[in-house]
Formats: sequence, C-alpha cells, structure tokens
Amino acid sequence: MKKILITGGAGFVGYFLARRLLEIGNVEITILDNLQRGRKDEELDSLLSKENISFVNGDLTDKKTFERLGKNFNYIYHLAAVIGVRNVQENPDRVLFVNAISTLYLVEFCRVCEDLQKVFFSSTSEIYAGTLHHYDLPIPTPEDVNLTLLDVSSQRTSYMLSKMYGESIFFNYGQKYDIPFTIVRYHNVYGPRMGFMHIVPEMFVKITENETVDVASPSHTRAMCYIDDAVEMTILACESVNTNGEILNIGNQEQEISVRELVFTISKVLQKQVEFNEIEDTPGSPSRRCPDISKIKNLTGFSPKVSLFDGISKTYIWYKSRLHTRHE
Ligand SMILES: NC(=O)c1ccc[n+]([C@@H]2O[C@H](COP(=O)([O-])OP(=O)(O)OC[C@H]3O[C@@H](n4cnc5c(N)ncnc54)[C@H](O)[C@@H]3O)[C@@H](O)[C@H]2O)c1
Repeated sequence: MKKILITGGAGFVGYFLARRLLEIGNVEITILDNLQRGRKDEELDSLLSKENISFVNGDLTDKKTFERLGKNFNYIYHLAAVIGVRNVQENPDRVLFVNAISTLYLVEFCRVCEDLQKVFFSSTSEIYAGTLHHYDLPIPTPEDVNLTLLDVSSQRTSYMLSKMYGESIFFNYGQKYDIPFTIVRYHNVYGPRMGFMHIVPEMFVKITENETVDVASPSHTRAMCYIDDAVEMTILACESVNTNGEILNIGNQEQEISVRELVFTISKVLQKQVEFNEIEDTPGSPSRRCPDISKIKNLTGFSPKVSLFDGISKTYIWYKSRLHTRHE
C-alpha cells in the first residue's frame, strides 16, 4: 500500500490526481488543503466518501499543520500554492510568502518522513516568460534553457520567482539531505472543475450569453493539455526512479494553438456561431508558449492522447449545467 500526501489536493490538478490514484488502487491518500482556492464540493465529498482517502484542512504556512500528518508517506505531491492571474496582480505578497514558506516547511517535513520514495514539486511554464521576452527562447521549449526574470518590480514576476525559488529549494535541500525529488513545469492544463478564472470556462460563459465576444491576445499561442493526460504524466513522473533530480515539462506540444483558434474551437464545441471581436494583448501575457516534452516522453514512455476538440468537449459536459454557479 503506497502512502501518499497531496498538498493542494482540493484544487484542480490535485482532485483529479487523487481520483486517478484511487482508481489505480493500492494507495492510502491524505489530501491537505486550506481551501483558500480549492473547494470541498460535492465531487470532493464523494471522493472522500471512498475508502483509503482522508482530508486534512490545514495551512502549510503553519508548522503545526505538519504535526497532524504523521511521518509515514512514500510519495508527496506538493501542488499547494497561491496561483491565478488575479491573485498574482492583487496579492503578490501572498504569492511570495505562501509559496516560499509552504515549500520550505514541506521540504523540512520530507527530511523526517520515514520511507519517502519521492517528493514531487509543481512548477510552471511561466518560468520561461522572462527568457521569451528578453532573449531568444527556443519553442518548443526544453527544460534546460537559461532562465531570466521578466521585471523584478512587477507583480506578475512574483509567481515565477516563487516557483524558481521552489525549484532551487528542492535541488539544494534534496541534494544536501538526500531527499528524492522530481520537479515538473505544467503548461496550460485545462479540464472540468478548474473554476471560472481561465480562458476555457470564461469563453463557455461568454459564448453562451453573447452574440459578440471580445478576444484579447488573439495571436498569442498556448499548448493546451487536457487534465487526464497531465495526471498520467504527473503519476509517472513522480513514481519513476528515472526521474529523480530531474525537471520535466508537462504539457501537450502537439496542441499549440492561437487564442483565436482556441476560441473558435470552443464555439464549435458549443455549436454556437458568434462574432469575435479581436482586442489588444493582455499586458504581461507571453506571446508564445509551447513545451518540448521529449524528456518526459523518453523517461516515462507516455505521450498525451486527448485532442483539443475532445478535451474541450469533455470539459464543456461538466461546465454546461454549472455555468450559473460562476458567481457563487
Ligand atoms: N493548472 C495549470 O495549468 C498549472 C500550470 C502551471 C503550474 N501549475 C501548478 O500546479 C499546482 C496545482 O495547480 P492547480 O491548477 O491545481 O491550482 P489550484 O489553485 O486549483 O490548487 C492549489 C490548491 O492549493 C491550496 N492552497 C493554497 N495555499 C495553501 C496553503 N498555504 N496551505 C494548504 N493549501 C493551500 C488551494 O486552496 C488550492 O486548493 C500549483 O502549484 C500551480 O502553481 C498549474
């Protein structure tokens, strides 16, 4: 029986990860979350009603939280973080404080865990934005490019900086105290139950309610990765010993698409024709983002399988009956 801790497990990636791990079986899962962004909704409650999974409502910036967890974990997925464009713009202090302190406390906790096979750290594609802006960034982007900050005085930099700091924590504590770790950089993962602060659900709402829809940054590209593919890569990256001490991109490089094409695909899924009104680029939005995922493919043997159309369709099935809940 693998003992697994998922920090931030009430959030988007964490919930689907817990669900998939339970499906695979032979696991005992603890979800830890302070519900700052994650929700204890019907779906999480239904997951928690199953055997071999429990929930701890706790804050990782409070050292006492760790005393409630025991010390017996084989795999730790560290997903908890303050994320999201609005948080980053309005609360960059929280981003820096929570992401740094929670990761420091977590890695200290790893030092005392009894049979830890791996700790997994979720970093971000946002980390490449400075190099894209200031220098030539190869696209698709491999993990070993030199990293650059965008502008240390801007709020937006707080998030990428907190994740760079997190990566450094794992390398330095990991090597010094012999903690097996893997770092991944997620690229534009989407799917059901991801809230409404994301272009996909945002467009579900706008296209449903309007005949003309504004589209910002229409020529910017993103490589969209459906949650099921991201979760498979997450588990393989964490459980494989080949990935110890590695940084891996997680995303879907076959699905790089402009925002213009993305919203058009969404309207096709919704079977509604609307007029798109292209407006200016969102300040700070990277013009292009696409991961080179050959490293994770080589190390785990997995390639993403879900096409954009299928992924958007599955996502819409979930959102369709919930569009009215966006104001809750
Ligand atoms: N979803 C993506 O496309 C994407 C892209 C890049 C990076 N990531 C990274 O992956 C991880 C998971 O992302 P997500 O989309 O599931 O985010 P999410 O916001 O849905 O989940 C994060 C969870 O962490 C919890 N949390 C925040 N601060 C906490 C604290 N101090 N103590 C305990 N819990 C706390 C929140 O309540 C939330 O449930 C994050 O670290 C994020 O930076 C995700």
